[in-house]
Amino acid sequence: MHKYTKIKNYNQPMHSLKTISLFILLFIINSCNKVNEAVETDALEKEVHTLLSKMTLEEKIGQLNLRGTSSRVKGSLPEELKQAVREGKIGAFLNVMNKEYVDELQKIAIEESPNKIPLIFSRDVIHGFKTIFPIPLGLAASWDVNIAENSSRIAAIEASTFGVRWTFAPMLDIARDSRWGRIAESPGEDPFLASLLAKAYVKGFQGDSLNDPTSMIACAKHFVGYGAAIGGRDYNTAIINKELLQNMYLPPFKAAFDEGAQTVMTAFNEVNGVPASGDKYMLEHVLREQFSFDGFVVSDWNSVTEMIPHGFAKDEKHAAQLAINAGLNMEMTSKSYENNVKKLIKEGKISEKKINRLVADILRVKIRMGLFKNPLRVDNDKIVYAENHLKLAQEAVIKSSVLLKNRSSILPLEKSKNIAVIGPLADKPREQLGTWTFDGDKEYTITPVSSFSKEKIKYSFTEGLTYSRDSLTIGFKKAINNAKKSDVIVFIGGEEAILSGEAHSRADTKLPGLQERLIKELTKIGKPIVLVIMAGRPISLQNIIDDVDAILMTWHPGTMGGPAIYDMLFGVQEPEGRLPVTWVKTSGQSPLFYNHKNTGRPATKEEFVHMRNIPIGAWQSSLGNTSHYLDVGYAPHYPFGYGLGYTTFEYSNLKLSSNTITKTENIRVKITIKNTGNRAGSDIVQLYVQDVVGSITRPVKELKSFQKVHLTPGETKEISFELAIENLKYYNNNLEFDVEKGDFNVFVGRNSGSVLKESFVYE
Ligand code: BGC
Repeated sequence: MHKYTKIKNYNQPMHSLKTISLFILLFIINSCNKVNEAVETDALEKEVHTLLSKMTLEEKIGQLNLRGTSSRVKGSLPEELKQAVREGKIGAFLNVMNKEYVDELQKIAIEESPNKIPLIFSRDVIHGFKTIFPIPLGLAASWDVNIAENSSRIAAIEASTFGVRWTFAPMLDIARDSRWGRIAESPGEDPFLASLLAKAYVKGFQGDSLNDPTSMIACAKHFVGYGAAIGGRDYNTAIINKELLQNMYLPPFKAAFDEGAQTVMTAFNEVNGVPASGDKYMLEHVLREQFSFDGFVVSDWNSVTEMIPHGFAKDEKHAAQLAINAGLNMEMTSKSYENNVKKLIKEGKISEKKINRLVADILRVKIRMGLFKNPLRVDNDKIVYAENHLKLAQEAVIKSSVLLKNRSSILPLEKSKNIAVIGPLADKPREQLGTWTFDGDKEYTITPVSSFSKEKIKYSFTEGLTYSRDSLTIGFKKAINNAKKSDVIVFIGGEEAILSGEAHSRADTKLPGLQERLIKELTKIGKPIVLVIMAGRPISLQNIIDDVDAILMTWHPGTMGGPAIYDMLFGVQEPEGRLPVTWVKTSGQSPLFYNHKNTGRPATKEEFVHMRNIPIGAWQSSLGNTSHYLDVGYAPHYPFGYGLGYTTFEYSNLKLSSNTITKTENIRVKITIKNTGNRAGSDIVQLYVQDVVGSITRPVKELKSFQKVHLTPGETKEISFELAIENLKYYNNNLEFDVEKGDFNVFVGRNSGSVLKESFVYE
């Protein structure tokens, strides 16, 4: 059982001599630690400044330069690149995926460049390197920080043997719109869950010590508000007021910095008229002052010069000036710094002092990484696809898959049944890896069909459609014939990997191609249908939801998708995931999220009139004047936090230890959970709070804590959470982070929609 609440010990204080001595000892250790830290910081800063004082302006500019290469450079390294490193004109590389090149370039840097400053090699290692885990939105569905941490640790161990010591992850953009392709990479829609995951990812990537050769420095991205792109269209404008930014979009970043994330990437988008790469308020005030961040900021791919088409910079030189003055340390791929810094200093538009600070931030991180002492890659080829990596990848699929529907408990399937396996993603190793998986090899990927072939089950496979967007009916006949001979149909469909991720937004998020049509044809046969979805986003299912008996969302599950899907379908394991995002009925409802405001006219069941029930020629009426759509209402298909397992639970007896919370007295919230089914299983018990009246309006509920419980059939457990005043604070209109007096509701349940409620007050 995992606990994410800070539980204080209620058996309060024993002031024995022993305890007092312990306190004194802890005080001494703590003070010594602080002294040590201060000494280390002084030494580090001294090293940074000694180095800086030896560097020419050209070399300093070089450190600000992140040079990209193609992932698949063929032949030998271009001489121009080697010469640039020799002259100290490059600070870091992106995508050098040939080990010999990594070694050659690093040797030039540390042996031939003027001050022998090592390079950092970087890569998008997002959800695994060789061993691919479920996409981040899938990992978020596990609500399991251990899975997040361990999967990123494994990614770092594998990638670092190729020389990659810096990953552009974790992506921490709160995403509330399934149309946005990058929702696949996101931690979902909730800042509390995203913050826990942020810490876990950073811990995993960076490991116990930054100077361990398997440590990869993390990059919290994209700073900030990228997920709020209008209409879910990638790169688009975001309009976010300051308190929403603080309450919703910034917490995961703060969590990553608190955990020691060394770098942060600016976003492509603008927020409130200012592109992220030129946003001085965000980079200097929020990042450096509010969050005390002392690592370095990297731009996104060409995002500095993209301030020109944004209409913020008039030319390349102006873009460099804005980004430098905003505090952006390292420019990815575009060359506005390289080409213009000298001129800008001469013209007095930027200062050399500012450049020194930007370079110092980078050197500080390089020293922390131990690169000056151990610059060279440590080869450990055998570690990729290690047995324990694959085992964790398989466990991650089980933990992140969400069972959305299971009519008449059709799942788990009986092994004695004849199964027709149909669908375009049942045997597509590349596609099941998902977005950002440059390094995962399809040869190592196990599909559902290849897993089924190793088991003692009776199945027959005909894909029906050759890829997810296929618009030809050629394969229908064979698939239908196969289905006719079966007892049950398992349809494995969804989206190919390329349909989500960067720049791959969709206006209509239903199953692409003719998948819905094929499912409709299959329903005519009258056999039960189990729909297994592999996709980068929630898929709108309203056209087929009643046609299928069970729905299992596996996201893009990665290398070990096949065996995990086998285990879940046949009941070796139950799917354990819970939705980290609201699942809309149709993309027309997007953006839809559970922690919305109430409005002055909240939607209700009683007031909702579907448009089909409005009389023809109806006069304007005030019936149903609430916040909803005439055609799909106001509720999603499945709320945030939703997910079924193979047993059932009953929640009862929600009790608070007090109806008043104070600065010093927390409230203990207790609930009883019973496994009412006939199989052992687990559930994620979720606690939400509503601040009923605020100086600015507050969300209808906000996730504040959760715990995973595992119960045997008939077993009952009392679960308890502790709520402290700290959990009720938020940023108000004056950007003060505080709690306001008044009434609060607390809800506990299986998801954000089904909850028991109690109330308390802060006086
Ligand atoms: C993406 C970043 C990524 C970078 C480097 C950009 O297009 O927005 O998330 O890290 O490319 O590959």
